[in-house]
Amino acid sequence: MRIAVFNGPNLNLLGIREPAIYGTTTLGEIEARLEAVGAELGITLLFSQFNDEGRMIDAIHNCYGVVDGALVNAGAWTHTSLAIRDALTAVRLPYAEVHLSNIWGREPERRHSWLAPGAIGVIAGFGADGYELALRGLVQALRRSSES
Ligand code: DQA
Repeated sequence: MRIAVFNGPNLNLLGIREPAIYGTTTLGEIEARLEAVGAELGITLLFSQFNDEGRMIDAIHNCYGVVDGALVNAGAWTHTSLAIRDALTAVRLPYAEVHLSNIWGREPERRHSWLAPGAIGVIAGFGADGYELALRGLVQALRRSSES
């Protein structure tokens, strides 16, 4: 099983970016942890991070037929981009949405997600650990659906 891990804008700055909200774990450390979990689960992970929305959409398109699912933290595009959900839907990529912070406990403009309606599930508020929780949930859901 191949899972793409997409991170959106400003998430390359994890570690120095607003640590009181996002913690001090870097994106590289999150990816290393996911790599270890991926090895345990026997899956292949493909990591990418984008500060350009069009490039992230192109990368989602490139998943068509070659990737089984995606773990997505779209950052601020979560709250603005129907285009990213449309891209995921267009290439029929099942996905889990993840956020470090609890977006529903923050400012009003962060309380709506354009991605959530199409997601298998959403994990938010558990900091860097949320990526591992979301990956485990996504893989379990995909394995279950391939058995049925
Ligand atoms: C975020 C929450 C978003 O509101 C914010 O714009 C981010 C990070 C999170 O992981 O908590 O960039 O997606």
